[in-house]
Amino acid sequence: MIVLAADHGGFHLKEEVKKHLEAKGVEFVDVGTFSTDSIDYPDIAKKGCEKITSGECEKGLFFCGTGVGISIAANKVKGIRACCCSDHFSAKYTRLHNDANVLCLGGRVVGAGVACELADLFLETEFEGGRHATRVGKIMAIEAE
Ligand code: RB5
Repeated sequence: MIVLAADHGGFHLKEEVKKHLEAKGVEFVDVGTFSTDSIDYPDIAKKGCEKITSGECEKGLFFCGTGVGISIAANKVKGIRACCCSDHFSAKYTRLHNDANVLCLGGRVVGAGVACELADLFLETEFEGGRHATRVGKIMAIEAE
């Protein structure tokens, strides 16, 4: 199960990616927002992250204007490793090497076609483990300090 979350700056892109996931039969929950009315991205990031930390969802696709604000907010939540990406290489390697569980996309940065490809890559790529698990462990240790 995937969680989708967006502020007003990411709303339209979330809707595009949502249609794409629906067409592919990927299961998701959408925690909003559901319009272009202004909403603060830290609030929606928190709501999306809760779906992951509770165990209801495995990964998240988050959206704001740049993808940056919502990724900064999401990364404050214990257990969340959020990556803001606009290129294919980063979307793939943040799964392979960082075991990222949230992909953040900018509604004012990437088009729907690129966003859907980045989402597919992110959702379909497995963590490589090994030496990367040691490094991710060190990230978690910093978080626990
Ligand atoms: C909202 O205008 C905008 O600041 C937000 O969507 C995001 O880009 C923040 O990083």
